[in-house]
Amino acid sequence: MIKAEGITKSFNGRQVLSGIDLDIKDGSIFGLLGPSGAGKTTLIKIITGQLASDGGAVYVSGKDVKEFNGEDRRSIGIMMDDFGLYDRLSCQDNLKIFADIYNVPHDRIIPSLEEVGLSDSKKKPAVKLSKGMRARLQLARVFMTDPKILFLDEPTSGLDPLTMKYIHKLIEDKKQQGTTIFLTTHNMEEAARLCDEVALLNDGHIIDRGAPDEICRRYNHHKKIDIHLTTGEDIELPHNEEAAVKISELISQGKVETIHSSEPTLETVFIELTGRKLEDISEVQYA
Ligand SMILES: Nc1ncnc2c1ncn2[C@@H]1O[C@H](COP(=O)(O)OP(=O)(O)O)[C@@H](O)[C@H]1O
Ligand SMILES: [Mg+2]
Repeated sequence: MIKAEGITKSFNGRQVLSGIDLDIKDGSIFGLLGPSGAGKTTLIKIITGQLASDGGAVYVSGKDVKEFNGEDRRSIGIMMDDFGLYDRLSCQDNLKIFADIYNVPHDRIIPSLEEVGLSDSKKKPAVKLSKGMRARLQLARVFMTDPKILFLDEPTSGLDPLTMKYIHKLIEDKKQQGTTIFLTTHNMEEAARLCDEVALLNDGHIIDRGAPDEICRRYNHHKKIDIHLTTGEDIELPHNEEAAVKISELISQGKVETIHSSEPTLETVFIELTGRKLEDISEVQYA
């Protein structure tokens, strides 16, 4: 569905993307993960034909993006920060403008607002919307054209947990309907929850890729068992035979309150690979 081969890009002589290869399956949710400045937005812009790469090629549904026509462009939906809304116009009128640009019949407007739970606010000017509502209006705009592929650049960045959940549900519903979804995020929990496959991008290189649980298992080389004792003490044991004897002793003595094995998360894998923490870096840079 989406194929990228050897994408490179430099800005002012500084390499931002270095030989990116991707192969994203039809109907899947793909997550591009990386801290702020990793090159996620640049890569989305190149894949959607908004920015030319220095080298490499991108094929969407088998077609080179350089040869995309109006029809091809309508078959993809793009949600990113710099696609603005008209602040003084109502939700409905904002969608009217985009409907005219994309040649979408006006009777798609209300159903699109309904889809994101904004039909009660259809007359509200965009300037009066909360951050979460703005994000939903952006999604309504993207959904209006019924795209076969969705590109969502940090769709939940800076949103409250409830709106985040709501948007996750919308994304999952789209997948159920057969849409292919390419999203970027620096939120590892979001990626682990939503994505069939992820690629970890750091300094313009993909440093690992695969299904989230598969990546976590691959880095599960120092398996640990955490035990909380009835005395209030916490102990950590390795995953071996000796520990098994010790654990069964503790259990038969009635000393074990809780017991669980600690597996790596995408977050800890990323830290291990790069020495960087995703959330921290982005917060520092946006501050
Ligand atoms: N138009 C541009 N001109 C110069 N530098 C840019 C431009 N766009 C992005 N960059 C730089 O490229 C790097 C990657 O940016 P970006 O793709 O926005 O990262 P991300 O989306 O992962 O935060 C950053 O260092 C950024 O400053
Ligand atoms: Mg970005």
